[in-house]
Amino acid sequence: MSTNEMYSSPVDLENTWDVPMAGDARFTWEYDNGRDRLLSLYQKGKDKQWDQTSRIDWSIEVDPYDSLGLPDEVSAIYGTPIWDKLSDKQKKELNRHHSAWQFSQFLHGEQGAMICAARIVESVPDLDSKFYAATQTMDEARHAETYARFLQEKIGLVYPINDNLAKLLDQTLTDSRWDMPYLGMQVLIEGLALAAFGLLRDMTTKPLPKQILAYVMQDEARHVAFGRLALKDAYKELSSKERDEREEFVVEACYLMRDRLRGKEVWGTVGLDEAECDKYVDQSEVMIAFRNHLFTRIVPIVKDIGLWGPKVQRAYADMGVLQLGDANLDALMKQDEDLAEQIDKEKAEAREVEQRIAEIEQTIAIGADEQPVAVD
Ligand SMILES: [Fe+2]
Ligand SMILES: [Fe+2]
Repeated sequence: MSTNEMYSSPVDLENTWDVPMAGDARFTWEYDNGRDRLLSLYQKGKDKQWDQTSRIDWSIEVDPYDSLGLPDEVSAIYGTPIWDKLSDKQKKELNRHHSAWQFSQFLHGEQGAMICAARIVESVPDLDSKFYAATQTMDEARHAETYARFLQEKIGLVYPINDNLAKLLDQTLTDSRWDMPYLGMQVLIEGLALAAFGLLRDMTTKPLPKQILAYVMQDEARHVAFGRLALKDAYKELSSKERDEREEFVVEACYLMRDRLRGKEVWGTVGLDEAECDKYVDQSEVMIAFRNHLFTRIVPIVKDIGLWGPKVQRAYADMGVLQLGDANLDALMKQDEDLAEQIDKEKAEAREVEQRIAEIEQTIAIGADEQPVAVD
């Protein structure tokens, strides 16, 4: 079935969205000068490839009206007069639309990440970074494939890309400076996505989305480490003017992501008053905590790569997230990797138990067939 029939509103599928390319494709003839940490990340990238067709258990059923198994209280309009007027059917429909919106933005973001990673392969000067970005391009393709399958097979509804996410992708890709896809995608968009994936991974009570989010996060932990390593080195050399420009971009992008990526388009689509619902989003304690949580990964990375001037610190203080700069990124990343492996382990153990039960049942059945014949 074409995705067209699943979009929440009409999308032009005849034409592609074309972002003009800027900057040079760079070749290097130095094949022997890789940085150890980057090369070991590349090795890990090659070793840890996985395939959604075999690693994810797609036979698990998903209720599209309750795909994540979250309580009603997480809705931004919970307990408001609008909420109280909704029938159970409407609440279920809203639940489905919110999940579809969220996972659709993950999906479009993954396509953006694949294109940015490919762009980095072209434009970054060093071969070790090109090698790494090539594995990331493949990782992002697998992520886009996985989210597309989840939406198409399990939710049956897809939202178009959010305008502000598209704007950020456009800004990131049209800039001719080679570090901008890193900063825009690897640090900001990936950092935000990682926090959102993490929150849903930890909150969902449903096994299929939990597997998907944990496995995708296992790869994303490497991507963020790559952005940090590459930019930390490069940003030591920046002039103060160059640093200023990047800090301004970070501040603007962070406000944009905090204030504009919040599913506003869902309300109108399900027939609710968009302005009124959006007002509740601003006031809802759950949503305020959620928006702040989105910065748990970005702020420490921005600090780590050295874009920590007064403008950035002021903006983060204003958002109330400045203290997040001290989070231990390595520990967070290790946790992401361990959690995915833990799920694999639990699945293997469950399979073993199933096998053993089947063996016992078979033995019992054989035993029943082989009843000794009574002898007179
Ligand atoms: Fe990804
Ligand atoms: Fe990624």
